Amino acid sequence: MFDLPPKISSLDARYEAQKISFGPVVFQVARTLRTTGLLMALDNVADKGFTIEEAMHACDLKRYTVVVLFEGGLSAKILKKIDNHWLITPIGRFLLHDELTRVNMDFVQDVCYRGLADFDQSVVQEHPHGLREFGENWNTIYEALQFLPEPAKTSWFAFDHFYSDSTFPELLQIAFSTAPKRLLDIGGNTGKWALKCLKHNPDVEVTIADLPDTLSRAVANVEAAGFPDRIRSHAINLLQPDAALPKGFDVVWMSQFLCCFSEAQVTSILTRARAALSPGGRILINDTFWDRQEHEIAAYCIINSSPYFTAMANGNSKMYSAEDMLRMCDIAGLRLIDAVDGIGYGHTVFSFTAS
Ligand SMILES: C[S@@+](CC[C@H](N)C(=O)[O-])C[C@H]1O[C@@H](n2cnc3c(N)ncnc32)[C@H](O)[C@@H]1O
Repeated sequence: MFDLPPKISSLDARYEAQKISFGPVVFQVARTLRTTGLLMALDNVADKGFTIEEAMHACDLKRYTVVVLFEGGLSAKILKKIDNHWLITPIGRFLLHDELTRVNMDFVQDVCYRGLADFDQSVVQEHPHGLREFGENWNTIYEALQFLPEPAKTSWFAFDHFYSDSTFPELLQIAFSTAPKRLLDIGGNTGKWALKCLKHNPDVEVTIADLPDTLSRAVANVEAAGFPDRIRSHAINLLQPDAALPKGFDVVWMSQFLCCFSEAQVTSILTRARAALSPGGRILINDTFWDRQEHEIAAYCIINSSPYFTAMANGNSKMYSAEDMLRMCDIAGLRLIDAVDGIGYGHTVFSFTAS
């Protein structure tokens, strides 16, 4: 994965280095081609393309605007030019129509872009300096989730849900394979997974554990959806090492959750999760691990999500490799009993018992 061709010329290598140097510039051009409506208008006329004047007229833009954006788009292969006509390419169509691309782009722009300017300080000091972009003096972005300004809030939840929603159908099969009666969802967020479980199985009772503000919202969502009787809540800040989880669960569920914590914190949380199990219970960890991916594109997206955790979330967590995650689980006294890869957009579910 990520191998260079065996022989890359120095001209090609230098060109690749310029693509990185101008990466943020190209990103803004691509995004603005979309937000001005130019990409959509070009897609609508397909192989006919536009002259500059036709594009100005179609999107009500000045000549300068269209020329800067079109030339930038040409350099990034988002557009191509045939004689005096400009046409959208397959790359442009992905920028326009592909949900993965859209969600990632909005997340980078609305949540990460400004804060990443201080990435060098954040990664060296293990402090999310970028978080101050959102105004308050938050310790982590998770305390701030319900209070993020728009459009950051919408883009944060869209990014989170895009990845986890794609996994739900297969996950229900795995989670309910042992017919659990009590399930603990740590980091239950909006209550979406809890609701899926309650709808899927009439006998299960679900407890969501999360930070207080997010927890109230999650429980309100589940209750409003008509399941007030089988939902329980446990407000907790797991950064406090002595904060205990409730006990006696057949399944302890953690989805896209452990990436929010440093290695030492992950081990501490896993130890507490282990103590929450009933005899014979299972811990299920659902996450995306770059070293379990079949396709480089998935590994690329996962690895490049880590700087968000550094600059914006908490300064000291990341998208862990499966190798690192399994090592932490081992330290916490968990015994791996199953691993299922390729769920949704590249998720893996690890199942453990207390060893
Ligand atoms: C990335 S979201 C995962 C959401 C959901 N499980 C999913 O799969 O989409 C992480 C969740 O962990 C919660 N969380 C973060 N830090 C926490 C902490 N210190 N204590 C308890 N919950 C925390 C957040 O509030 C959020 O709901």
